[in-house]
This record gives sequence, C-alpha cells and structure tokens, in this order.
Amino acid sequence: MNQRQPIGIFDSGYGGLTVMKEITRQLPEYDYMYLGDNARVPYGNRSFDIVFQYTWQCVRHLLEEGCPLVIVACNTASAKALRNIQQTMLPMYFPDRKVLGVIRPTTEIVGDISKTNEIGVFATQGTVTSESYRLEIKRFFPNARVYQQPCPLWVPIIENNEHLSEGADYFVNKYIDELLVQCHNIDTIILGCTHYPLLIDKIQKHLPDHIKLISQGPLVASSLTDYLERHPELKKEISQNRSRQYFTTDDPTVFSLKGKLFVGEELEVSHIELT
Ligand code: DGL
Repeated sequence: MNQRQPIGIFDSGYGGLTVMKEITRQLPEYDYMYLGDNARVPYGNRSFDIVFQYTWQCVRHLLEEGCPLVIVACNTASAKALRNIQQTMLPMYFPDRKVLGVIRPTTEIVGDISKTNEIGVFATQGTVTSESYRLEIKRFFPNARVYQQPCPLWVPIIENNEHLSEGADYFVNKYIDELLVQCHNIDTIILGCTHYPLLIDKIQKHLPDHIKLISQGPLVASSLTDYLERHPELKKEISQNRSRQYFTTDDPTVFSLKGKLFVGEELEVSHIELT
C-alpha cells in the first residue's frame, strides 16, 4: 500500500457505533470507515457458516477499500468468524493487513475486576453457543467461573428503536433473572454484544447495585491505542484527517436517523451493494 487509508469498523448493524464512539473519542486523529450490514441483521441467531460468509464479505469489502486495519465490532462475528479470517483468509488474500475483534480486550481484564470470580455474560445466542467468552476468560483467569445468558430479543428491540420503551423492561428483567438464577454470587457482568450499551440504563436499573456492568467500547478503544503503539508500521499506514464515513447495506436515510441516536451527531451515510 502506498497511500494512507482509514481504519475499518464493521458490525452487523448499529451496535458497532457504540465501539466506534469510544475509539474516536480516544483516537480522534485517525480516519474511519464504518460498515453496518443492516440488510442482514441480526447475525445472532444465524449458523456458523452464514455468520462467517457475511462477515468475510463485509470485512473483505473494507480491505478492498484499502483499510490497513479492520475492527470487527461485533461479538457474534468475532466469535464465529475472526479466527478463520485471521488464520486463513488474511494470509491468503491480504497478508499485509490486520483484523481485530472485540472479545479479547474484554476477557483479558474481567478477572481483575471480579472479586467473587463469578462472572456473567449477556450475549447473542450465537456468541453463547460458540463458548468464546468462557474459553477466553478461563485462558486468562483459570479460577473464574463463567455464566452465560443469551438475550435473543435485545438486538431486535434496539434495531427497531424500542430500547427506551416500557416494553423493553420486560425483556431486560427476564434475561437478568435468567442469568442471576444460574449463580447468586455473580459480581461482574460483561455486555458481550456491541448493541447492548444502548440498554445499559435499563439493565443497570434492574440489576442489584453491587454488580458491575462492563461495556466493551472503552476497553476496545484502549486496547487499540496500545496495539497501535506496539505496531508503528501499521500506524503509519492509517490516514489522519479526522474523517468519518458510514456505509450500510440497507437504507442510508434510515441508518442516518437511527445512527444519530447511537452517536449523538448527524451521520452522512451511503448505501453499498456487497458483491
Ligand atoms: N452487535 C452484534 C454483537 O456484538 C450482534 C448483533 C446481531 O445479532 O447481529 O454480537
């Protein structure tokens, strides 16, 4: 690559904007290109093969646009597709690029936060079934016990802009109860889906006060800051004009309206057709 290019950020829909918000807060100087696969969201209940196929298609698009680094800001995609992309697709097609996920920055610190070693995870069905959180947390903190709760309705509630409605409280309570009944000693819970920070006020309201909720955005952003410091060769490939571009596989006008709710500012969005 001879020209500097933006950092790519990918999610199945709007959720990755919660990560992008923190990344751009910590690293405002860089350019960013966001891609939401809103036409095919949610990924959470889809098979391993389909999540891989959709994720690779989107990540490949960002790499073809020239991004030297792509952040998969989606847990479901990180759990089901990242390893294959890093170990097989990148060496074969884009050996000089990097693709990073959102699970590791969270799992490598969570054991330092919990005092009881009993850790809860709210995530999509796909992320829970993959067991990625349990395996990764135990790799860093072998004494930790991990309890997972799938929350299949939270993403559709958020994508349909119902996350502030009273109806959402029912499903927030339901999944909290189902997690806490697995273990009464949980003191730390990971929001293991990038959409869930949109529900954080409601989740917090229904959770006992002593339980600490972990959002991924700030952790992913700090981890990226650290990563770029350790990889100056990659850092110098990234353009620094503070530009933000947004792309969606669905309707850009709808993305722009809803995206504003996520990031608090007007977004200029374009539609892309994936090939
Ligand atoms: N935001 C994605 C995640 O972090 C999931 C949303 C979906 O189900 O597509 O898992």
